[in-house]
Amino acid sequence: MNLKTLPRESAEAHGIRLESVTLRRGDRTVLEALSLNLTESRIGLIGDNGAGKSSLFRLICGLDQPQAGRVTVHGCDTANAGDRRKLPQHVGLMFQNPDDQIIFPTVAEELAFSLTASGAGKQQARRQALDFLTERGLADWAGRAIGELSQGQRQQVCLMALQITSPATLLLDEPYSALDLLSQLRLSDQIAATGQQIILSTHLLDHVRDFERVLWLDNGALRGDGPGRDVCAAYAQDVRERGAMQAAAAVLRHAAQATDA
Ligand SMILES: Nc1ncnc2c1ncn2[C@@H]1O[C@H](COP(=O)(O)OP(=O)(O)OP(=O)(O)O)[C@@H](O)[C@H]1O
Ligand SMILES: [Mg+2]
Repeated sequence: MNLKTLPRESAEAHGIRLESVTLRRGDRTVLEALSLNLTESRIGLIGDNGAGKSSLFRLICGLDQPQAGRVTVHGCDTANAGDRRKLPQHVGLMFQNPDDQIIFPTVAEELAFSLTASGAGKQQARRQALDFLTERGLADWAGRAIGELSQGQRQQVCLMALQITSPATLLLDEPYSALDLLSQLRLSDQIAATGQQIILSTHLLDHVRDFERVLWLDNGALRGDGPGRDVCAAYAQDVRERGAMQAAAAVLRHAAQATDA
């Protein structure tokens, strides 16, 4: 994948920073004392179900607040209400579940809403949404009812709703999970071509293996952090070892049951 790198001074001035962040949900500690400085232009996020990937995204875009520590996004402190209002210019989240993101009944209305939320007038937003769809060969999607789109098509609407406002950073939470192979290829090409910072969570390691940086979250803690190739290899090896241990434990259980019988 052809990776683009932000100029060093711009990346440092506009990065995402977590300082000793702890997030609890109920009596469960989801992230513990996590510190990160995210300045690279392509960052992957991997780890088991429940590791904390979506929770980390919710913190970065200000939807949740940590119980301890500080999150700053391109100079905005997410705990500060005034800064939080400016966050949509800086960061956009594509939700793991499109139904958590989409509000409006048609595609054009959903895209136009992204623009009005960022300060555009209603008519201008509507026109820009139609132009945006036309440029992508999707003019016929404008009036389509969201409820009649497939899961993958709704995911594409969510992505377009972010792309249309061009925030500096896109947080993509498992964006490939419902896409067909051609759409995966298209998204991969779009990611390679954009100048925006992309932070992308996925269980499909091929999509982040060539990223300059990948984070491996394990039970709310950072288990790996480095070039995609190394971190993906370490995670895959760990998964293989755990799989082998589970298989061996199952054999022992069956043997014990057979002896008891
Ligand atoms: N709304 C919630 N209320 C309470 N706990 C939650 C809530 N959402 C998530 N959690 C818990 O937070 C932890 C992290 O969940 P999170 O959704 O961030 O994981 P994830 O890495 O995104 O997993 P997946 O790969 O399945 O999407 C899990 O233990 C989960 O049970
Ligand atoms: Mg998730």
